[in-house]
Formats: sequence, C-alpha cells, structure tokens
Amino acid sequence: MDLVLRGIGELATPRGPQALAGKAAGRLEVLRDAYVLVREGRVVAVGTGDPPVLSGAVLDCAGRCVTPGLVDPHTHAVFAGNRVQEFLARARGEKYTGGGILVTVQATRGASEEELVQLAKPRLLHMLAQGVTTVEVKTGYGLSLAHELKMLRAIRRLAKELPMTLVPTFMGAHAFPPEIPRDQYIRSLIEEMLPRVADQGLAHFCDVFCDRGFYTVAEARQILTAARGLGLGLKIHADELAHVGAAELAAELSATSAEHLLHVSAPAIAALARAKTVAVLLPGTAFVLDEPYPPARELLEAGVPVALGTDFNPGSCPLASLPFVMSLAVLKLKMSPEEVLTAVTLNAAAAVGLARDLGSIEVGKRADLVVWNAATFAEIPYWMGQNLAWAVVKDGRCVSRQART
Ligand code: NIG
Ligand code: FE
Repeated sequence: MDLVLRGIGELATPRGPQALAGKAAGRLEVLRDAYVLVREGRVVAVGTGDPPVLSGAVLDCAGRCVTPGLVDPHTHAVFAGNRVQEFLARARGEKYTGGGILVTVQATRGASEEELVQLAKPRLLHMLAQGVTTVEVKTGYGLSLAHELKMLRAIRRLAKELPMTLVPTFMGAHAFPPEIPRDQYIRSLIEEMLPRVADQGLAHFCDVFCDRGFYTVAEARQILTAARGLGLGLKIHADELAHVGAAELAAELSATSAEHLLHVSAPAIAALARAKTVAVLLPGTAFVLDEPYPPARELLEAGVPVALGTDFNPGSCPLASLPFVMSLAVLKLKMSPEEVLTAVTLNAAAAVGLARDLGSIEVGKRADLVVWNAATFAEIPYWMGQNLAWAVVKDGRCVSRQART
C-alpha cells in the first residue's frame, strides 16, 4: 500500500458514478471505525475495524471524520486587481449590475501569464488547505483571443504546479469587450476563439453569462451550440440577475450544469430535472450581494441534482471558502448536512464532468480525501469560518496537514 488511513471515527461519503437527485442526494454511506487503503493514487479498499495491511505510510486519524475531497465547481479564480471600491459602494446600497467585470478585464489584460499564475496560486492553495482538492476555473476577464488564451494557459500551468485537479472553462462570453461591436465579438467567439480553444485542448467546458444586460438566450444558444460541435461540455450562468429563460435553455441543450439560478422559473425547474442538468448553487453570491437565495428546496424536491460552489471572483463574490458556503447552504438554503456534503463532492464532480473519477470514497476512484478535525461531517458547516481540515489527501498524497489537538 502507498497510504493507509486508519482510526477513522466516521467515514461519510455519497456513492456512485453520477450526480444524485431526490432522496438519494440525502443518503450517505456512513461507516464507524473505518479504514481506507490507497495504492497508486486510487482507493483500493474501504472497510471497518483494523486495516488488513499496514504497509506504506500510515495516517492515524484518531477518531476524526473523513469525507471525499471537496470539489468547487464554479470559480473565477484567475484575475488581476481587486474591486474594493465596488464592494464598499454596494455596502452603501448600490446595486450589482455586472458592470464592474470590465474593471477586472482591464487589470487582467494588463497582467502577464506569469503574473496571473502567481496571483492565483495562493488563492488556490488557500482552498486546498480547507479541503478543496478539485476546482473549476473560468476565463472571461480577457475578452479577446490573446487574453482569453493567456488566462487558459495560466490555468493549465496552475494545474501542473499545484496538487489539485483544475477544470478549465472557457467563458469568453462573460461580458462584451468595449473596443468592438457586440455582433462582431460574438462572431469572433464562434469563428475564431472557440475553434482555437478547442484545437489547443485548453478548456473542458464553455460557459455563457446569459442574463439581463449580458448575452441573450438566442446568443447563448448560438455560442453553446458551436461549443458543443467542437466537443466542449456546456455550462450556463443562468438567471442570476433576472429571469430571462437561461435555465430553460440549459435544459433544452441538456447542458452539464446551470449555475446561480436566483431567478429560476418553476417550469425551468421541472425542465432541469428532466434534462438531468446539475443546478450549481452559489449562496455566497446571494450573501455578498444581499439578494434572496436560490430556491434550493424546490430544486431538490423536483429531483434536480444540486451542487454547491463558491463563485469566487473579485466582484460579486470575493469569498473563497467552500466550507463557509456549506454553512450558508444549511442555514439559508435549508439543505440537510447530507445533501450539502453530496452537493460539494459527488454532485460538484458531476457538474465538472468528473463523477466517474472522483467525488466519493469508493474503490477505483481517486484517493482525494479530507480528515477533519471533527467527530462528524455535520460539524463542517456548523463551526463557521474555521478551517477544520486536519489533513488533505490528493491522489493518495498528503498535501496539507494541520497539527491540531
Ligand atoms: O458569477 N455573473 C457573472 N460573473 C460573475 C461575476 C464576475 C464579476 O463580477 O467579476 C458571477 O457572479
Ligand atoms: Fe460566476
């Protein structure tokens, strides 16, 4: 064995190769006094009692609880500059319109690939130290071929240099660049940028900000259809600022995920359930913008698979803590701790197309695990604003460790 985790007081994990919906989303496998055996980066056995072998590195969890490594399925973690003034203006009552995105575009265009890597690295390491082993990262602060490719190359370098799985999403359709007309930019997205991105294998997904003041449903449909033709998975920033029918479009296209959904309609909820599109909820954004929270219970009861992410970005959500988002999900979205754990592990993995490979502690999956300084997983959302991750294991290697009592 390469690694043996023993003395696990409680091992809590969802199970399966795909997202869980309905009652299944609230049913975890919970083992007491458990062990996990790891070889070549993968889980090779899970059981209770004493481990059958004690070779390789042995990590005694001393009664602590273990969950799968957390997956953050929606971030904008690569950017330059900050928007403190916008944050303060909002605190004084100003409304978020998304206009500030162009402030970050200007700063990001001014930064080199190397600078973007150095800026993003500590942000991602901060996530890793809190138990997040997989992170989706979107572009969308470049808004030109050269700057979008620069962002994607920065994400690729970060994926090489950090012990984390990073999922790159091309989001050239995040806003409109000020220097060219709208239809010219959309044409360049479809005819020039997407083919180059796909050709260089730099992105797994394409995302479009389909909302009031941004891309219309017709424009999003055109862009996403082109992306699908090039082999990219589909995501939509849907109905965050207003109900424009973006979630309906996500269902129509059987997109992998529809994200935000603060203003999702009842018919769209039913359509998402039928399409098995994952709803990626981002309560940190509603918290920061002081907006009503997305209708998590309605989505769950309708049978939509629900995932949770941070939306970490310099504008609408400068919050990088997925454990804090778990607290918001319990308190504000009224999700059970079981539903929340599923939403930040297996269902989040499904939202980034990786549920067969990670997101649960099962034989054959990647050995991405967190040992928490807690007796039960329900303490993760309960102890708010603390970092309870005691040891973080990525691909069978202990990559972050806190010596605590
Ligand atoms: O997910 N909605 C669009 N994009 C981001 C915000 C980006 C920004 O404000 O810089 C979001 O909220
Ligand atoms: Fe976002």
